[in-house]
Amino acid sequence: MADQKVFIFDTTLRDGEQVPGCKLNTKEKTELAVRLEEMGVDIIEAGFPISSPGDFHSVEEISRIIKNATVCGLSRAVQKDIEAAARALKKAKHPRIHTGIGTSDPHIRSKFNSNREDILARAVQAVKWARNFVDDVEFYAEDAGRTDNDYLARVIEAVIAAGATVVNIPDTTGYCLPYQYGEKIAWLANHVPNIDKAVISCHCHNDLGLATANSIAGVIAGARQIECTINGLGERAGNTSMEECVMVLKQHKHLGFYTGVKTEMLNPMSRLVSETMRMPVQPNKAIVGANAFSHSSGIHQDGFLKDSTTYEIIRPEEVGADGSKIVLTARSGRSALAFRLQKLGYEFNRNDIDVLYDRFLKVADNKKEIIEEDLRELAKNYKPEEVIADF
Ligand code: KIV
Ligand code: ZN
Repeated sequence: MADQKVFIFDTTLRDGEQVPGCKLNTKEKTELAVRLEEMGVDIIEAGFPISSPGDFHSVEEISRIIKNATVCGLSRAVQKDIEAAARALKKAKHPRIHTGIGTSDPHIRSKFNSNREDILARAVQAVKWARNFVDDVEFYAEDAGRTDNDYLARVIEAVIAAGATVVNIPDTTGYCLPYQYGEKIAWLANHVPNIDKAVISCHCHNDLGLATANSIAGVIAGARQIECTINGLGERAGNTSMEECVMVLKQHKHLGFYTGVKTEMLNPMSRLVSETMRMPVQPNKAIVGANAFSHSSGIHQDGFLKDSTTYEIIRPEEVGADGSKIVLTARSGRSALAFRLQKLGYEFNRNDIDVLYDRFLKVADNKKEIIEEDLRELAKNYKPEEVIADF
């Protein structure tokens, strides 16, 4: 069977922007939206139009500018929210209203002081309202991760019958284990009679560090859309990270999926989002962290220098990273030292390197990292005849 497409729904400008300190103005949002479209994202969630006049305007502007991607606006299952989303999306070539309501018992009881039947009726009503304005309506069952599967299946069947084209199954609290989330998606795929009329979407949060694993489990079980953000930004511990999902599907071709994302834009996009949102990326972040292609221990460096595939499963250029780095620390080995010296134009034989390595370790034990300046110093102060004296 031919590979199947997984749609990438980016919510950096909505869920990502909810992070304290990450708020964007319209200019910043539109610039990022243009880049998201360029990189091949299928759906851009531009904002939550009812939330503020500024966000309404951002969604309007993004709708006006974006040509190929679907532009999506969030709303609660409330008439005035849906109407605001519809107004903000008016100029979009491919508009989508994303509406929904909490379906887990804690949400139904504590947030809405309601009951399951009332919530189901509100969900259906919201989708019908939204369908008055656009053909593409996504329904989210908030906290689906903790929602009883039988009830969730009933809600999903009803909203699809009411016209939902995409059904979003959020693990809002990042609670599920990958097998549980996968089973939930499989349950819906097998128990909702009209499920073939809608795309199932994964929207996973990272409270237990499982957002990417859960999203991939969801796709394997039948979902065909992943909701994600650049750098995994989002509420609390964040959302599923786009770069991770896209590369998991690309690396594991045997799964039989592909996305439309141009992977060489992942690192430039990560930097742009980090700068625009003033939110640094952790150095050990998969794919886009500063250390994602750095090698610092002697064993790894030696293997990497012989054959890069011994310690790298992705070529840095494939994801637009600057390149692999051989970092020198007190844990580094002789091959790495020789390699770095060679890069600076110093050619030493094996005996020279043995002597230099002992001196290097003395300096390295007192420093976090040996930088170019230290290497030049080592090389400059070294006289080959010393080898004889040292032995
Ligand atoms: O996490 C969540 O449940 C959400 C919904 C609004 C889609 O962000
Ligand atoms: Zn969310």
